[in-house]
Amino acid sequence: MGMMDQDILKVLYTEKQIAARIEAMGMEMYGALKDKDPLFVSVLRGAFIFMADIVRACQVRCDVEFIAVSSYGNATSSSGAVKITHDIQQDITGRNIVVIEDILDSGNTLHFLKQYFMTKGAASVSICTLLDKPSRRTKAITADYIGFTVPDEFVVGYGLDYCQKYRNLPYIGVLKPEVYSGEE
Ligand code: PRP
Repeated sequence: MGMMDQDILKVLYTEKQIAARIEAMGMEMYGALKDKDPLFVSVLRGAFIFMADIVRACQVRCDVEFIAVSSYGNATSSSGAVKITHDIQQDITGRNIVVIEDILDSGNTLHFLKQYFMTKGAASVSICTLLDKPSRRTKAITADYIGFTVPDEFVVGYGLDYCQKYRNLPYIGVLKPEVYSGEE
């Protein structure tokens, strides 16, 4: 038992379940993307672990990029404005972009990024998310590839954080409420 496990209320997906799901997703994506010379774009920081696993599960010829964004949405402002803090490093004109995310929540981030990549001349933008939380959606956006659909609970691990911690848990779990003590 690691030192972070005591903060977990319950495990939603074990390391094994995640690996099995990603293997199946990778095969599905391979079928759809094998002739598309896709560019996989991971959204930092949460998606970094999923990115590493999904690109190896999907054995297509591809390149990888990383983008970082910050969101200015908060409880009082639902504008959901998104700002790019680290941009991708290559011309994407005519490319088939596959955005790799750890979680699709309100949809603000992916709604923005889809527009952004289309404006920059991408041929297509598809979305691959490990977790989908449709109950929280405020933007009309759906993912093309979904690992698991999750309830509206505070999930951490496998890249997902609480106050930048727990990202390195190998499984996905629900945080005990006393850990975040009502300050979600
Ligand atoms: C999370 C997640 C997505 C975004 C999804 O990132 O990685 O990028 O929120 O939420 P949305 O659908 O409501 O836009 P976060 O801002 O927590 O940063 P992180 O990736 O560094 O953890």
